[in-house]
Amino acid sequence: MPVRPRVIINAAMSVDGKIALSDGKAVRLSNEEDLRRVHRLRAEADAILVGVGTVLMDDPKLTVKAEYAKGRNPLRVVLDSDGKTPENAHVLDGTAPTLIVTSADSTRTFPRAEVLRCGKDEVDLALLLDHLASRGIKTVLVEGGSTVIWSFLRHRLADELKVFISSRVLGGHAAPTLAGGQGVTPLDEAPGLRLDRIERLGDGALLEYTVVR
Ligand SMILES: NC(=O)c1ccc[n+]([C@@H]2O[C@H](COP(=O)([O-])OP(=O)(O)OC[C@H]3O[C@@H](n4cnc5c(N)ncnc54)[C@H](OP(=O)(O)O)[C@@H]3O)[C@@H](O)[C@H]2O)c1
Repeated sequence: MPVRPRVIINAAMSVDGKIALSDGKAVRLSNEEDLRRVHRLRAEADAILVGVGTVLMDDPKLTVKAEYAKGRNPLRVVLDSDGKTPENAHVLDGTAPTLIVTSADSTRTFPRAEVLRCGKDEVDLALLLDHLASRGIKTVLVEGGSTVIWSFLRHRLADELKVFISSRVLGGHAAPTLAGGQGVTPLDEAPGLRLDRIERLGDGALLEYTVVR
């Protein structure tokens, strides 16, 4: 069995931990320095993964922008149990290969993407990583959103967490935070993080952690 890919979570948040506005709409939290870093990370990764919530809200392209980095586009992976990704979504624009991962029950097909059926109610992340390993993928960049980030941390399937902290406060009870989902009770079930590096990036800060399993 090939070794599971290295999973790097990358996100940008406000000082108060929000990753979007209170209506869920995307807001650009990365500054130019951070965008350059993110696109370099993308260019080094074999796959970029997001949840369908991010596709529906932000409609990201998930490609490497030439103005920030040079390199080929990684495989785009969308966790989408019921196959809700709209046909006009950027991830289905054919500019890079895309894998839509649904649950076993979904029958949806996509003309411009490969479909993998994997898991019962939601996508089984461990099985998915084994599948990605079997096709030679060594690094997966998880770019959100809140629910997916929590899922990888909760299942102890992430290796690194990189968070850019923008010098903004967004507020709002309903605004998604870096990690959503059910959360932990008690505290000792919380995934452990080891702070490896802090770097000032323009008017923001980058924090890099190793996830301690
Ligand atoms: N600032 C940043 O860096 C950044 C980056 C990305 C996104 N965002 C923000 O994040 C928000 C979206 O986050 P979100 O939490 O609503 O959605 P999300 O995390 O992008 O997607 C969550 C959805 O993925 C599907 N899924 C399938 N298998 C899963 C699994 N094993 N674990 C977790 N999810 C699984 C589920 O939908 P189904 O049941 O339908 O499959 C789930 O509801 C948006 O507001 C966006 O702007 C911010």
